[in-house]
Order: sequence, then C-alpha cells, then structure tokens
Amino acid sequence: MQLDHIGIAVNDLDCAVEVFSLMLGLKPGDVFIREVPAEKVRIAEIEMDGTNVELMEPTSEDSPISGFLAKRGHGVHHICFRTGDIDAVWADMKARGARTLSDDIRSVGRAYRYFFVHPKDAAGILTEFKQPIEGH
Ligand code: CO
Repeated sequence: MQLDHIGIAVNDLDCAVEVFSLMLGLKPGDVFIREVPAEKVRIAEIEMDGTNVELMEPTSEDSPISGFLAKRGHGVHHICFRTGDIDAVWADMKARGARTLSDDIRSVGRAYRYFFVHPKDAAGILTEFKQPIEGH
C-alpha cells in the first residue's frame, strides 16, 4: 500500500495552482488540469515523486465539492492509497462493516478502479483506495 494522492478542495483552482506552483517551484508541465463532468469538478494534478496533490474545484453548485466547501471550507478533502489488490481491500472493509460511498468498486475508464470509505469509518478522513488497471 502506498500513498497515491491527497485531494484538496478549493474555490478557485487557478489561484490554488499558482500558490502551489510558487510554494513548490513548479513548471507548467508539472500540473495537469482536467475536468471530470461526472463528478462536477475541475482537477489540477500536481505530480510529485510518486504521490500527487490533487486540487479540486467544483464546476457546479450541486457538486459534492461545493457541499464540502460550504460545510468545511478549503482544505484536505480526502486521501488516497494505491493498492495492488483492491478486491481484497474491499472485502476486508466490508468484513469490518466499514461504510463505503458506492455499492461496488468503480472504475474510471480502463485506467483504474477505486472506492471511498466513509470518514466515520476511516479516522475522520474520507479515504479512497485505488488500483491502476494493468497497462496504465
Ligand atoms: Co482522489
């Protein structure tokens, strides 16, 4: 198990990218921005050494990130661990009675499979597990 990324909720993605770029001495090629319409967010991925920082800005008022920002403000939204056997992690969480945010493991195209564990069953922090699919 490895720390894959830390997801941070922000109101203004461009501003947050600028702040992180200054703090970390990033070049434009170090930041990868994409929109995820299914989750109503715009994401800036900052590639670090094996662990990414993922800045997330809501693109709509009914985005889950809008809800988070309204309730908790800017800050760490979730952490994500990368595993080599997500089915085993899922089974283990279910066996312990941990609440997950989906009824099954989800996948993003053919890139990776993932699921989230509710903060109440993960030491107060929304926790994502993910496994890249072979070849990605
Ligand atoms: Co994530």
